[in-house]
Amino acid sequence: MHAFVRWGAAVGSALIVVVVVAVGAVEVLGRRTWSDVPVPPLDVRDDPALVTRGEYLVNSVAHCPACHLPLPEAKTFRPLSRPDLKGGQVWELPFGRIVSANITPSRSHGIGAWSDGEIARVLQSGVRRDGRLSVFMQAGVGALAEDDVVAIIAYLRAQPAIDEPVAESRVSFLGRVLAALAVRPRRDGALAEAPLMEASVERGGYLARGPANCVGCHSPSGIGSGFLPTAPLLAGGLPAPDETDPTMEIVAPNLTPDETGAATYWSEADFVARFRGGRVVAGSAMPWEAFATMTDTDLAAIWRYLRTVEPVRNDVGPTQRPIGSFRLTP
Ligand code: HEC
Ligand code: HEC
Repeated sequence: MHAFVRWGAAVGSALIVVVVVAVGAVEVLGRRTWSDVPVPPLDVRDDPALVTRGEYLVNSVAHCPACHLPLPEAKTFRPLSRPDLKGGQVWELPFGRIVSANITPSRSHGIGAWSDGEIARVLQSGVRRDGRLSVFMQAGVGALAEDDVVAIIAYLRAQPAIDEPVAESRVSFLGRVLAALAVRPRRDGALAEAPLMEASVERGGYLARGPANCVGCHSPSGIGSGFLPTAPLLAGGLPAPDETDPTMEIVAPNLTPDETGAATYWSEADFVARFRGGRVVAGSAMPWEAFATMTDTDLAAIWRYLRTVEPVRNDVGPTQRPIGSFRLTP
């Protein structure tokens, strides 16, 4: 009996030590910063041609307003009217309550006090000014060419400042576990120059993996990859709750040219027309508003790129459906 109690106490205290150490490790590693990711030395000129190029990237291709506007504007904005990127969209997630930032040039509430290099760093790797990692920026923005980054910064700087605060994102304990174990800044070797604006496979591949980030949603991704897309690229995403209807879930379909792909039997003209048509599924994460104003050339480039991707057999089922209703029967 005494021995039993002693063993019980020993095992109990060992467990407590393990839990305390694990929680401590999560609290330390999960709050770590990434200030070692270098701030690129940049000095962006105030040049109208750059601003115009940046405007197209920010509002149409890279769909920044889809995240940096509150709902419902984030799903109804008009890209050509220069939406004010005041932030404030909220995502209630198991790993935290994430709020998009005010990215207007406000010095008190936006990015007016950030250097060009600091803005470039968060765009290229997700690392914020204070070294904290933004999972949304790291996984939500694809690999951008350096000249596109410069154009984006020129455009952001040229917008009116909005001196309105948004709440800070709050990461939960689970979020810190993920930050400690899985989430890392993206460090992709950036192209110096974006491929020429022509309907080439090369340009389409850059847009789909980079600023338009089709791969980010249309590929499997999860905790293991730090929410970055994993193989098979473009073969369809994983179902996510429909934010506009809690009984439904939405999945990004397979875009590879397989018979299970969503656009396999479309023509290039059908593809462009589908993008001009805009949103059909109200709660879809796909930034249809932004993409509807992409040029014919860029949409054709993406289409041509998608035709060159390895076909992958993956039937994701109906894109919008009651939660849990779809099971693939072999
Ligand atoms: C998937 C949603 C998403 C997309 C797309 C997105 N952002 Fe963000 N961004 C966020 C969130 C959320 C934050 C706030 C940091 C956090 O808590 O993750 C943020 C932070 C930032 C910051 C840092 C501001 C700060 O205070 O830390 C900048 C700069 C920024 N975004 C610019 C952009 C630009 C420019 C684009 C388009 C190229 C863009 N973002 C696209 C969600 C997004
Ligand atoms: C933020 C996530 C996200 C991004 C980025 C995204 N998609 Fe989607 N996409 C979805 C979701 C979710 C659906 C299913 C719901 C819908 O049709 O809107 C979808 C649907 C589609 C469809 C089927 C539409 C239909 O009517 O059948 C096509 C085609 C498509 N996406 C192509 C693309 C291409 C090409 C890109 C890049 C230019 C892209 N998507 C970027 C999430 C995304």
